[in-house]
Amino acid sequence: MSDTVEVAVGRMDELTDPGCREFSIGEGDWPFLGFVVRKGNEVYAYQNFCVHVGHQLNWTPDGFFNKDDSAIQCASHGALYEIDTGLCFAGPCRGKSLRAVVVEVRDGVIYASGPTSM
Ligand code: FES
Repeated sequence: MSDTVEVAVGRMDELTDPGCREFSIGEGDWPFLGFVVRKGNEVYAYQNFCVHVGHQLNWTPDGFFNKDDSAIQCASHGALYEIDTGLCFAGPCRGKSLRAVVVEVRDGVIYASGPTSM
């Protein structure tokens, strides 16, 4: 099992509301890939891994939302996930959930913790 490492993802006020930012933990071919989501004063974080087939979720760098920014949408086959729970509510993996990542804000900076590989 790999160790858990905390990384600073960025300042809360650098993210739009709502907004996302990717991060990675670890080096080499299989770093742990994740993203944080800011919504109002809340921050959530998930592994960047669609529970359908395992592709990364985003359309563009830091681009994880559907058209109206109301949900996280997988770019591969369109699965929609709730921002605040990671639950898939539409699409091929309906009823499954993104893997949540430990996240907290300290002095305005978002920190995420995860393993150093997938
Ligand atoms: S890999 Fe995400 S919906 Fe298919």
